[in-house]
Formats: sequence, structure tokens, C-alpha cells
Amino acid sequence: MSLEEQLKQLRNKFLHEIGRAKNIQALSDLEIKFLGRKGEMSRILKGLKNLSGEEKPKIGALANELKNQIVNDLNKASQVIKGEAKEELIDLTLPGKKVMYGRLHPITLVKNELADIFTSMSFMVLDGPEAESDFYNFESLNIPPYHPARDMQDTFYLKDGNVLRTQTSNMQVRAMQKYGPPLRAVFPGRVFRNEATDASHETNFFQFEGLMIDKDINIGNLVATMQELISGVLKKQVEVRLRPGYFPFVEPGFEMDVECLNCGGKGCPVCKHSGWVEIFGCGLVHPNVLKYGGIDPKKWSGFAFGLGLNRLVMVKYGINDIRLFMSGDLRFLKQF
Ligand code: DAH
Repeated sequence: MSLEEQLKQLRNKFLHEIGRAKNIQALSDLEIKFLGRKGEMSRILKGLKNLSGEEKPKIGALANELKNQIVNDLNKASQVIKGEAKEELIDLTLPGKKVMYGRLHPITLVKNELADIFTSMSFMVLDGPEAESDFYNFESLNIPPYHPARDMQDTFYLKDGNVLRTQTSNMQVRAMQKYGPPLRAVFPGRVFRNEATDASHETNFFQFEGLMIDKDINIGNLVATMQELISGVLKKQVEVRLRPGYFPFVEPGFEMDVECLNCGGKGCPVCKHSGWVEIFGCGLVHPNVLKYGGIDPKKWSGFAFGLGLNRLVMVKYGINDIRLFMSGDLRFLKQF
């Protein structure tokens, strides 16, 4: 075998053995074995003296190159082995990793506050389906298929015939059927509408609905409960006003406004210069709805309300664009 071939074999043998070396001792053993005075390399180079004058420098250069490669490989391997050992050392002078705390979304914060207020008045807090049947979202709420109220709540229709619910009112008849009278329940949740988005419209927002059914429930009960709700969330006594409003599932129906906290009722862009911000729909539950829920309207009556949670949060914190809620922008979210 020529010296050139022997050197090549030596390279392969070295690579094979260094791959198995697991510690510094094994590396220095390899160095002695391959490059030492009595090592493999010098054994091969003993053959140099038999070569012609022309070949000698060529093989000499090859041997040198191989030696350099081996030295390099040994250095690298020892760095790797030492590096692994070093990772276990802790440098106490390095600045620590910054811990980012998560926090609750402003909608969740206010929803939790509302839930607390209502549980203190013996209301249950119920969750409900976001993909809902036409029956619970519309029909059982006194909105038959031909009813124009459907136009105001256009939504996303699913292939299986369900809709993405347009209102948390979908839970009214569900709760009546499940629990019967007397009943006190609130239903927070996400709702959907087919909207062109702008500063005050989103396709995806939150409502907080409530329902109370008992003997002789009247408008006084409704107003008192709404006032408790508003002063509980806004943490002060604020003016509210009740206007007639039409919702097919209540009779009589109202819209309730809260004085604009941004301007204290004087008029500003937030309240469109009226001094009032419209937050609720509410009213006394329509007899047809009670019937759909299996409740006798001659024996029982009730009130219901539904508020736009996003709006309330906007009033509470002075937020001027509804799209911020879903923006995922940490500069916004970190403020709560
Ligand atoms: N579901 C209505 C809406 O989305 C709000 C509403 C109005 C809910 C009157 C009610 C109610 O429970 O009584 O616009």
C-alpha cells in the first residue's frame, strides 16, 4: 500500500475513534496514539526514506496537512466536551430573564365583576353555545322567519342550519326549559354579526344578558337591578334613563342609557353630543317567550336585559375604538 493510501486510512481510523471519545482523557490518549513520537503517524512516515527525491516533499506536505486536521479536530472536540461541563455553571452576575406576566382581558375583568354582582343577588351564571339553532336564537324569542327584526341581526349561517348566535338572548328559553320558574340567571358570552367594522362595530363582540322570572315581577324590579349593575361596575352613582324601545321578546321594551362619563353628560364625541350612551336593551319578558320556555304567563312574569359588554367597558375605561379589544396589541392590553 502506498504511503498516500496509508495516510488516508489513518485519517479514517482517527475520525472513527474520535467519534467515540467522551472525555478529555480519551482525547489526549488519541493524540498520543496518532501523533506521538511512537504513534501511528510516525510509523507511517518511517517509509519516507525509501521514496524518491520527488515524492518525498509531496508526501511530507500531505502528512503535515493530516496532522493539522487531527490537531484541529482534537481541539474542537475538547471545546465541545468542556462546553457541556460549563453549562452547569451559573453566572450569578448575568441579568435574569425577564418574566412576562399574563393578565386578564378588560372584557373578562368587567364580565367577572358583573358575575360577582349578580351572584350576590342569587343569580346563576350560565354559559351557552355560540353555534346555535335558529329556534333558540330567533324563533323562541318571538322572531319568526319572516320577521323584519332578523334584518338587523344578520349573521353567519352554518351548513348544518345553525347560526353563529347574534345575541346572548339565545339562552333565555334554554334556561327556562332547563330550570323552570322561579329563575334568576345571567348569560355572559360572545356573539356574532355580519357587520362592516369601524370604531364602534365588530363582527365579534360580547354581551351580558340577564333573566329573572318570579311572581309579580315589574318594571321597578328591572330598574333597581339595572341601577345596582351600573353603579357596581362604574363604582359610583350614575344617572340612567329609560326610553321605550322595541325588541320582539319583551313587552314593554326599553332602551337604557347611562350618562356619558367622558363628559359628565355635557355632550362630547363619545356620546355623539347627546350626553347619554346607549348600553342596554331590556323589558318585561313577552308571554310568547315564557310559553316557549314552558312557563305559564298567567302565573309568572319576568324581566330580561342584554347589554353590550364592549360598550360598557369602553364607557368605564374611556376606550374610543372597539377594534382594540381584538387587536392583540400589548400596548393596549398592558394597561389593565
Ligand atoms: N338581544 C338584544 C340585542 O342584541 C338585547 C336585548 C334587548 C336583550 C332586550 C334583552 C332584552 O334580554 O330584554 O340587541
